[in-house]
Amino acid sequence: PPGAAAAPFLAGYALDDSGGLGREFDGIGAVSGGGATSRLLVNYPEPYRSQILDYLFMPNFGASLHILKVEIGGDGQSTDGTEPSHMHYENDENYFRGYEWWLMKEAKKRNPNIKLIGLPWAFPGWIGRGQNWPYNHPDVTAYYIVSWILGAKQYHNLDIDYIGIWNERSFSSKYIKLLRYTLDKQGLQRVRIIASDNMWEPISFFMMFDSELHQVVDIIGAHYPGTRTVPNALATQKKLWASEDYSTFNDEVGAGCWARILNQNYVNGNMTSTIAWNLVASYYEDLPFGRDGLMTAQEPWSGCYAVEGPIWITAHTTQFTHPGWHYLQVDGRLEHGGSYVALTDGLGNLTIIIETMTYRHSQCIRPPLLPFIVLPQKATFYLKGSFVSKFLCVYHINGFRDIRFHLLHFFSLCFLSLQVHEGMFSLNLDVDEVYTLTTLTTGRKGTYPDPPQSKPFPSNYKDDFNIRNPPFSEAPHFADQTGVFEYFVNTSDPGDHIFTLRQVVVQRPITWASDADQAISIIGDFKWVNVSITCDVYIEHLGNGGVFIAGRVNNGGIYVRHSKGLFFWVFADGTYQVTGDLSGKEVLMKGMSGVRARVWHTLTLNLKGSSASGSLNGYPLWENVTLSETSHGWAAIGTRSFEFAQFDNFHIEAS
Ligand code: GAL
Ligand code: CA
Repeated sequence: PPGAAAAPFLAGYALDDSGGLGREFDGIGAVSGGGATSRLLVNYPEPYRSQILDYLFMPNFGASLHILKVEIGGDGQSTDGTEPSHMHYENDENYFRGYEWWLMKEAKKRNPNIKLIGLPWAFPGWIGRGQNWPYNHPDVTAYYIVSWILGAKQYHNLDIDYIGIWNERSFSSKYIKLLRYTLDKQGLQRVRIIASDNMWEPISFFMMFDSELHQVVDIIGAHYPGTRTVPNALATQKKLWASEDYSTFNDEVGAGCWARILNQNYVNGNMTSTIAWNLVASYYEDLPFGRDGLMTAQEPWSGCYAVEGPIWITAHTTQFTHPGWHYLQVDGRLEHGGSYVALTDGLGNLTIIIETMTYRHSQCIRPPLLPFIVLPQKATFYLKGSFVSKFLCVYHINGFRDIRFHLLHFFSLCFLSLQVHEGMFSLNLDVDEVYTLTTLTTGRKGTYPDPPQSKPFPSNYKDDFNIRNPPFSEAPHFADQTGVFEYFVNTSDPGDHIFTLRQVVVQRPITWASDADQAISIIGDFKWVNVSITCDVYIEHLGNGGVFIAGRVNNGGIYVRHSKGLFFWVFADGTYQVTGDLSGKEVLMKGMSGVRARVWHTLTLNLKGSSASGSLNGYPLWENVTLSETSHGWAAIGTRSFEFAQFDNFHIEAS
């Protein structure tokens, strides 16, 4: 109509609790594992290790996470490495392996209210009784998982809040019901079940037609839902979670992805928890999905770490609302793009989180995002119901323009107080921004002095594994890619090799990824070309046992089967081989070595430019093997198959 054109369009959004509230909020979390994503974190020297943990878990400091989800180690490759099981063998039980117990305790120290989730990716082979499948003997699997929960309590005083089924693999209704039954029988009624850590379907469909299943599944957890859910999932009337999401490189775009999905998983998909893969990128960057963590801590040898954008994006939600708060019933979509959510504790507090992330600056790794437009806009909010007379504090983050400046300055204090007149206020919203408007005044951008500068992995590195009471079962910086390598004590050794590193997985696990047929642990710098590696080795397996040391190893994680490099093998039958790959197909040299099982031998591998040579017990064994001058990669140790073997006095010199 004429005359109306001059008035700027004012979008209005009502925040009202008088007609009841929306869904209960369950918290924002992150995953350690799936797999070995925190491997390097444990080796950080103090005070840096504690600082990193503070940025992740301390309330009102950094990401201040509400939920920590960990992998239940299953001895198998689960993306960036293997994590050890609490039961390598059928009659074995040990609740001190790996670092997830430690991590959960560190998280609880900082935030006693943090919720804990356990989820398996792989399982030790014995669970399958010979088959690569965990559901043929559901009683065994339930016993195995419930033991982990009981062990957490008994040995670490950790109460596990939620338990999952099998990450991104099939579920079995029979198993889920048996899991519930076994939990209850052990007095673990309080542990809630999440299913199935895959897509919304088929679990939602199954729940609709199986009332017993419907009863035992507390939460439908979907992965990378793209902020949407499906009608069946809604029809179950269960809690809906994005039980794994994000997995995006942690630059500004990753931060934008995270900001968008944290809001829109609720706005578009009714999800009341979002969990990031992964918590902290603490694995060699050249492994798959390098730096897909909320922050980066991949250099324990230097102490260098980086608090990335996703940490502060997380803070915008986590510091201003908590599990048990409720979302308000709002549409949540802003007129000109972007979204908002509003939450209340029901005791007078109100928090509104607004994000205006643009298409280009908020794409996640998956699923593909359809284009959309976000414009600068003025938004007017109307506080109604019990919120009418509230005063709000504004916290603000700018995602893109001058990100460095803003990362230093945003969030340091309640940067402006909103004038609220008769329950109404307006705000100019720019694009690629996050605003938190809240009645709370506790928000803080925690800081520590800058960490040390980045440094490459030390070029001269030794480990004799001589440590009586190691704080962790694994030796620093060794990142197992198939099999598990643990500190070991040889009580009967005359003296030289009492303390060693031992490969302990002797049966192929129920795999989640494509584990190699050989065990392998990598270490060092992916850029290494010229290296000299020496290691004492001890084959335990008579007959066809064997071990190797290797350099220029170019692959790991879910691609470990395709690792190439230069591998120097010795076998219990008295032969040796030099191969260009882990699988041993590309034989470059072979011959007799005189090596035997159950005797210590010293292997040395020299890689220089295009030539390789190897020695045994200090004497040259082979030479003149040519390799590509451009090849490079980590150093590694390993075994021919899933077999026991020991390693000692590892020494690497790179030039
Ligand atoms: C998920 C998986 C994680 C990790 C991630 C990488 O599907 O559960 O363990 O592999 O993908 O994007
Ligand atoms: Ca030793």
